[in-house]
Amino acid sequence: MNDEVDFTLAFQDTCDQIPLLLIHGFPLSGAMWELQLEDLDDVARVIAPDLRGHGRSDATPPPYSMQQLAEDCTGLLDFLGITRPAVVCGLSMGGYIAFELYRRFPDYVAGLILTATRATADSAEGKANRDRMAETIRQQGIQPLVDAMLPKLFAPQTYENDPELVEFVREMMSHTSVDGAIGALAAMRDRSDSTPTLAQIDVPTLIIHGRHDQIVPLAEAEAMRDAIPNARLVVLENAGHLPNLEQPDEFNDAVIDFLESIAAEEEED
Ligand code: MLT
Repeated sequence: MNDEVDFTLAFQDTCDQIPLLLIHGFPLSGAMWELQLEDLDDVARVIAPDLRGHGRSDATPPPYSMQQLAEDCTGLLDFLGITRPAVVCGLSMGGYIAFELYRRFPDYVAGLILTATRATADSAEGKANRDRMAETIRQQGIQPLVDAMLPKLFAPQTYENDPELVEFVREMMSHTSVDGAIGALAAMRDRSDSTPTLAQIDVPTLIIHGRHDQIVPLAEAEAMRDAIPNARLVVLENAGHLPNLEQPDEFNDAVIDFLESIAAEEEED
């Protein structure tokens, strides 16, 4: 029974820190952020969903759209009762979703971290490749996609020195559902060109890119840096398409600096 004595109850709750929403790439899951979840929870409230059809989330029938995927993310923030704007970090496909989220729901966004991603839309050839891959997955399952992507994901040094990481990512990709992969391929194929958005971005933006990214050339990151008014580019020398896993310390340091600068600006206001 409650003894009804008044007293002050002290507690710690990292929920008062700036929210950091981590949106994974294709065909991965929130598990790709494990080294960020470990290291960044001192400075941020870290939220890393599995997008629909990926990781442990349920799949809905394809196709998906960028709007749906962005709304899944804001829906999660609403569900968690997060009213403060978040720093939205997207890797590759996660970056395409971050652009869509920023366009539709700018009030949810305190800052952007765009990693291993691009603003441009798919070319006609790129769209046709998405359709071909979707058909292959429909007929043969996820394995051909895993086999096609795995040799392109990492810097040469990572393949050489970190076979466990390569295996971890292979495993993660293999768990993507057929519907999830086909759905996301359609969302990426039909995504808008975000190039016109770049000049309108009025939140601080950090761009992080691996020097050896074979999927999104570094020139795409440089073009975003040049077009976004308040953007900084950090190039990680020994990383490919998954810089947060290949060079986690450097990646996390860049994110911590960025979060601290945003928190300092918020305190000034
Ligand atoms: C990703 O890494 O999320 C995808 O490869 C991006 C894409 O295919 O455009």
